Amino acid sequence: MTSRDIRQKYLKFFESQGHKIIPSASLVPENDPTTLFTGSGMQPLIPYLLGEKHPMGNRLVNSQKCLRSMDIEEVGDNRHTTFFEMLGNWSLGDYFKAEQLPWFFGFLTESVGLDPSKLYVTVFAGDESLDIPKDDESVEIWKRLFKESGIEAKDIHIGSEQDGYEKGMQGGRIFYYEAKKNWWSRSGVPETMPAGEPGGPDSEVFYDFGLTHDTKFGDKCHPNCDCGRFMEIGNSVFMEYIKNADGSFGKLPQRNVDFGGGLERITAASNGNPDVFKIDTLEAIVAGIQSALGRNGSKANYLDEKYKKSFRVVADHLRAATFVMADGMMPSNNERGYVVRRLLRRAIFHIDKLGKGDGVLEEGINSVIDSYKNSYPDLDKNRKKILSEAGAEEERFRHTLVTGMREFEKVAVGGRVSGAQASTLFTTHGFPFEMTTELARERGIEVDEEGFHKEMEKHQEISKAGIQEKFKGGLADTKEETIRLHTAHHLLLASLQRVLGPHVKQRGSNITAERLRIDFSHPQKMTSEEIKLVEDLVNEKIQARLDMVRREMSKEEAEKIGAEMEFGAKYGDVVSVYFLEDKDGKPFSKEFCGGPHVKSTSELGHFKILKEEAVSQGVRRIKAILQ
Ligand code: SER
Repeated sequence: MTSRDIRQKYLKFFESQGHKIIPSASLVPENDPTTLFTGSGMQPLIPYLLGEKHPMGNRLVNSQKCLRSMDIEEVGDNRHTTFFEMLGNWSLGDYFKAEQLPWFFGFLTESVGLDPSKLYVTVFAGDESLDIPKDDESVEIWKRLFKESGIEAKDIHIGSEQDGYEKGMQGGRIFYYEAKKNWWSRSGVPETMPAGEPGGPDSEVFYDFGLTHDTKFGDKCHPNCDCGRFMEIGNSVFMEYIKNADGSFGKLPQRNVDFGGGLERITAASNGNPDVFKIDTLEAIVAGIQSALGRNGSKANYLDEKYKKSFRVVADHLRAATFVMADGMMPSNNERGYVVRRLLRRAIFHIDKLGKGDGVLEEGINSVIDSYKNSYPDLDKNRKKILSEAGAEEERFRHTLVTGMREFEKVAVGGRVSGAQASTLFTTHGFPFEMTTELARERGIEVDEEGFHKEMEKHQEISKAGIQEKFKGGLADTKEETIRLHTAHHLLLASLQRVLGPHVKQRGSNITAERLRIDFSHPQKMTSEEIKLVEDLVNEKIQARLDMVRREMSKEEAEKIGAEMEFGAKYGDVVSVYFLEDKDGKPFSKEFCGGPHVKSTSELGHFKILKEEAVSQGVRRIKAILQ
């Protein structure tokens, strides 16, 4: 079966169970500061999982484009990809376990035709400290479903690593695991969830590809083992909890189901081949890259183990970069743009490992578009733009490679590449570490790999703090108008807190050259008097010519002085805090922020609120301008 067949069957199956088909949201999330890209189907639906009414009803189904850029280094084996499609179905306070599990089982065994004896499932083992019970209800449902297929399903408490992973399968079919494996929220296990975040226990389905266990991954195999025998193909999250401010868990106003299944992985299971790069869409991309290389005289072939990893990296990265560019995000040095840049540059580096690169990037991207254009017409519509942006990036990178080579030659004279040198080659000259090691190997020179990783950790900590702070600012660009609105945004948040009360917290922001937008917590609609008071206060502070001063301090210190942080955002150990203060140094506003800002509020002009509206329960949105 092709992935398109499976996607269609899935949507139809749930449509026939009363679900409305909704389109995939953009890879670029709106109002979600937790990730750079949409990384799961539930992210765009958060307000509805929290209780807001969805215009299409309370049963929804879709296939959502997802990107997990943190998996970039994992790509190269038979299952990891950065981009993937997540089949999703949602119950927004409607059905629950008794419907969800039989439907998914029925979809897999009847619509896709998977052999039920190859399916294994996991459930939540419970957590006494949080007063969340183990999921016996799901176990009973699974037992019945397997029994109807003639399989006696034994349940095993496998719990944690200490507690039983080493005991292995024990003849089981249903496995209880702790929260690390069977709990889902955007921010991981219960302990790491911020207050106000929804989550819940989940039940996952694994497909057994029947491979022999590889003891490199542990003494014994079990469904969550990474040896390759089992692959997770679907996850039903029973989202009924919300984290309270005191760390305990309460119930959401409604019980939800958030199901996510990997389209590529389900297709791979239906092929009986664990290599996701052999499903129709990815196979066509690999073939496109291979034939372009062939025209340049390369003999590199996907079936040759020597080349497999590079083919996978190129196919994955070009697919991911193409989809992100179609959603409007082009290669650059900022946040998301930097991810696109990295994807393209890693792809080019691996193309060069496979042969002569001329024209291969372009053909690779064309094959991504051709492979997906029937399901995603936007790709075709943006083909010209995507190709020209990617081509320009290739040119820049090839230029970098020339300088990088020159720098590498200088370092190589010393007969050894230190960690700091390798790191400078990468961070200053954009020369990939893989390239450094490859060249060094050719010449029999040693590279201090450990030293390089240490240097990079240091560097990443600094830039992570930078990226997250910048992201928090929600700036679309760094045009002068945008920067002025950014400073006005700080004035506005502080003014809202003065007028409405200290419960007002920033929940999202987006600033373009035309207007600012802030989402903030507040239980009801603002009155017109309140709006006027806020506007007046902002304008008063503009007149008062407050200075914008940036200070670096430890995160602890910044918290102590009560600097504003955005809900859900994560910060590094050293942060920058922006103060708006009068000539005596008395602050009107202090916020964690990466800037940039104007120097004085006197540069802002007249502030005006255009609109105040609801975003979701307890969250309001203001759009405002400077005149
Ligand atoms: N949110 C869950 C996941 O990403 C299920 O959709 O696995």
